[in-house]
Amino acid sequence: SPSRYHPRSNSREINAMSHHSDATLASRVDRLLEAAFRACGLPADTARSVPASRPELGDLQCNGAMPLAKTLGRPPRDIASDVAAKLRDDAAFESVDIAGPGFINLRLSTTFLATSAEDQLATDDAGIVRQNAQRVLIDFGGPNVAKPLHVGHLRSLVIGESLRRILGALGHHTIGDVHLGDWGLQMGMLIAEIRRRWPDLPCFLPEPALPEGSLPLGMDDLQKLYPEAAAACKADPARMEEAREATAALQAGHVGYMLLWRAIRTISLDAQRRDFDSLDVHFDVLLGESDVQSLIPGMLDDLRRRHIAVESEGALVIEVAEASDGKPMPPLLVAKSDGAALYATTDLATILDRAKRDKPDRIVYVVDQRQALHFEQVFRAAHRAGYADGIELFHAGFGTVNGPDGKPYKTRQGGVAQLGDLLSDAIDKARERLAENTEVDDREALARLVGMAAIKFADLSSYRTSGYIFDPERMVSFEGRTGPYVQYACVRICSILGRAIERGAATGAIVVDAPAERALVLDCARFPDVVTSAAANLAPNEIADYVFGLAQTFSRFYNECPVLAADAEATRASRLALCALTRQVLAKGLWLLGIAVPERM
Ligand code: ARG
Repeated sequence: SPSRYHPRSNSREINAMSHHSDATLASRVDRLLEAAFRACGLPADTARSVPASRPELGDLQCNGAMPLAKTLGRPPRDIASDVAAKLRDDAAFESVDIAGPGFINLRLSTTFLATSAEDQLATDDAGIVRQNAQRVLIDFGGPNVAKPLHVGHLRSLVIGESLRRILGALGHHTIGDVHLGDWGLQMGMLIAEIRRRWPDLPCFLPEPALPEGSLPLGMDDLQKLYPEAAAACKADPARMEEAREATAALQAGHVGYMLLWRAIRTISLDAQRRDFDSLDVHFDVLLGESDVQSLIPGMLDDLRRRHIAVESEGALVIEVAEASDGKPMPPLLVAKSDGAALYATTDLATILDRAKRDKPDRIVYVVDQRQALHFEQVFRAAHRAGYADGIELFHAGFGTVNGPDGKPYKTRQGGVAQLGDLLSDAIDKARERLAENTEVDDREALARLVGMAAIKFADLSSYRTSGYIFDPERMVSFEGRTGPYVQYACVRICSILGRAIERGAATGAIVVDAPAERALVLDCARFPDVVTSAAANLAPNEIADYVFGLAQTFSRFYNECPVLAADAEATRASRLALCALTRQVLAKGLWLLGIAVPERM
C-alpha cells in the first residue's frame, strides 16, 4: 500500500560535535579585498576574486578596478595600485601584482594556504558551507505502473538523486518523492486485457475478491501484457472503448478492479524498488497519481466557483496567459468534456496535497525537457489558483539519451531501451575491462560499482538540458573524462594512505611548497564553492567537471611530489595530509553524484 516515510534523519541534525566550515577560501579572500577597497575609499561591490586566468602569475585575480575606473573617471591601474598597496600589508598574500590595464594578481602565502587546507581537512564534509535551510521537495523517477523503467527514467533517477544529495549536503531538508504514474487509461487497458485473458479471476466475480497468490502474474508478465494491451487498443476502437469503460469503473471505485489495480501496483512497485536499490537511489515518499484523485472533485469545484477554471467548448480550462518569452500560451485543460481528469489535473491536485502535507519552500520536478510546456502551464495555473503560495515551482528538465547515431537510444532490437538493458550493457563492459588487470575477491560486485559509476558520471557530466550519447565502451574507460577514472583516482589515494598506515607513517602539519602542492590545495579549496554553485543552478555537471579536474590535479601532484618516498618525514606527513584532504573531497564529490568508491579496483 502507498507509504510515506522519513527513514533518514536529515544531515543537518547531526550532533553538536560535528565540524563545519563557515567560509571558503575564496570568500575569505573576498573579505580581504572588500576591506582593502573600502580602506582606499572605493565602493566594494566589485571586490571579488576569481581563479587566476594565468596560474603562473597568481592563484587568484581581482578584476574589480576596471569597472570602477569608468564610474570614478580614474585610470584603472591607479585604482589597482592603491588597492594592491593595502593588500600587500596582509600576511595572507605572498605577492600582489598589477598586470595589463589593472588586473590585480594575488598569490596567497604558504601559511594562508596551509591553514585553509588544514581547516578544510578538519571538517566533516570537505568544507561545504551550510545555507539557510529550506524544505525542498524533489519530484523524480516518476515510473509508470506495469511498465519497465526506461532510459528517460534513468536520467530522472540519476539527476534527481544527485540533486537530493547536493541540497541535503548544504543543509536543506529534502523530500524525495517518486510520483508514480499509477492512474488513468493505462490502468484500464491493463485491467481490460487481464479480464479477457483470465475472466475467472476472483476479482471479476459478482462478489469480488483477490486472495493472496491468486494473481497469475509477475512483473515480467505485466511488462509483456501492457504493450500488447496498448497495441490492441490502438488498433481496435472496440478494445479502446473497453479500456475506457474499465478506467471509468476503476475511477468510480469498482471493488474488484480496485483489488486488481492495487495488486498490480504492488508487483510493479516491488520491482521498481529493486531497481532503485541497485541504482542506490532513495525516496522519502512513495506516492503517486492515484493518491490525489480524491482531491480532484473538490479542487475542480473550487476552481469553478472562483472562476479560475472556465468552460470552453464543454471542457474546463484555466487561462495561463503568455509564456515567459512573450509567446501566447494555450490554456491548461483540467477536465475533458466527459468530465475526465487529465495528467495536468493530477499535477495540480498534487501541488495542493504537497503544500498541505510537506509544506515545501520549493518543488523541483526532474522530468524530461519535452514536458516543459506542461509544467509551465501547471505552475501558472497553481499560482493563479493560490495553491502554491510561498512555494517556488521549478522544472529541472533534461535532454534525451541518444545512441551513437545521435537519435534517442534504442535497443539492438530497435525498441525503447529499458533501464535493465542499459545497466547490464555498462556492467558487462566494466567486467571485460576489469578482467584485464584486477585481482579482487568479488569481481562481480566491483563490475557493478564501476558500471554504475560509468553510467552516472556520463549522465551527470553533460549539462542537464542537453542530450548525450550512451556509449558503454567509452563510459567505462579508465582514461578520459569518465566515472571510473575519478573512482580509480580515489581508490589510488586510499591505497597510498593504507600503505602509509602499514608503514607507521602518519599525516601531519600541511606545508605548501612545490607548485603541484599549491595547485592541489587551491583546487581542493574550490570544492565548497562548486557545491554551492551546482545547487544554485541545479547542475550536478559542475561537480562532475570539478571532480574530474581534481583527479587530474592530484595525478600531477603525485607525479611531481613523492609521498611515501619523500626525503623528509615532515614532508611525507604533509603530503599524506594532502592525500587525505584530496580523498575527502573526491569521495564527497563522488557521493554527491551518487557514485560509490570501491575499496580496491
Ligand atoms: N510518469 C511520468 C512519465 O513517465 C513522469 C511524472 C513526472 N512527475 C510529475 N509530477 N508529472 O512521463
